Amino acid sequence: MSAGANTGRQYTGPDSRRVQEMFAGIAHRYDFLNHFLSASVDRHWRQLAVRKVRELLGTVRPSLCLDCCSGTGDLAVTLQKGLDCPVIASDFCHPMLTHALDKCRQLPVRNVEADALNLPFSDKSFDALTIAFGLRNLENPQRGLREMRRVIKPGGALVILEFSKPIVPVMGSAFNFYFHHILPRIGAVISGDRKAYQYLPDSVRQFPAQAELVEWLRAAGFTDAGYRNLSGGIAALHWGRA
Ligand SMILES: C[S@@+](CC[C@H](N)C(=O)[O-])C[C@H]1O[C@@H](n2cnc3c(N)ncnc32)[C@H](O)[C@@H]1O
Repeated sequence: MSAGANTGRQYTGPDSRRVQEMFAGIAHRYDFLNHFLSASVDRHWRQLAVRKVRELLGTVRPSLCLDCCSGTGDLAVTLQKGLDCPVIASDFCHPMLTHALDKCRQLPVRNVEADALNLPFSDKSFDALTIAFGLRNLENPQRGLREMRRVIKPGGALVILEFSKPIVPVMGSAFNFYFHHILPRIGAVISGDRKAYQYLPDSVRQFPAQAELVEWLRAAGFTDAGYRNLSGGIAALHWGRA
């Protein structure tokens, strides 16, 4: 797969209602499968996302951050601990948020049920906003980016962690075989939901490559937009300033 830009392509994300129902159905197995299917590499990627937020904030001491599409709360908790600042974790899937509650109980992390396309927060509320494996699931991710920019303070940071397009040919082929043929089968057996773990590779295949997502960030009004491949492009961090 190539990481080239394809900015002319019209992109439509998955139906919101379907996504909400799908995550409700797998919420009870989500954390286990995340760590199992990625051999816990996802934890390392989240740490790198928080490190990037810290780098973008520089000397700014954040007073409030948002983790959007926060699901079961892993990035929200990593963000809170890494920045030592209060965090709001928002997601529109109640069962996913329920699984976040235990992790957040002793921390200044507040879970809020909210749609990322219509965030219930005032303009310029947050020093930084993160979103991990969420943007790809939005019905209209470009609108989602504009909505995220609205709630970030001017100069504040956006960091996106998302699956992307492997850039190393041999590794890419091996990963693609695993991702498209093995992972859906294991996911189906453990979660009991065959469609959800087929949706994962299908949605990653349709999602834009690295350079196109940078163009989306610029189009949504973010400055200093850039990206870094993780694990040879299996995932990528994207960022920008509001
Ligand atoms: C793959 S999970 C990622 C969860 C978490 N960020 C993580 O790193 O494990 C995607 C999450 O996005 C949420 N989501 C998808 N579309 C959304 C929307 N429009 N508004 C809010 N949450 C949404 C889903 O409910 C789900 O919890």
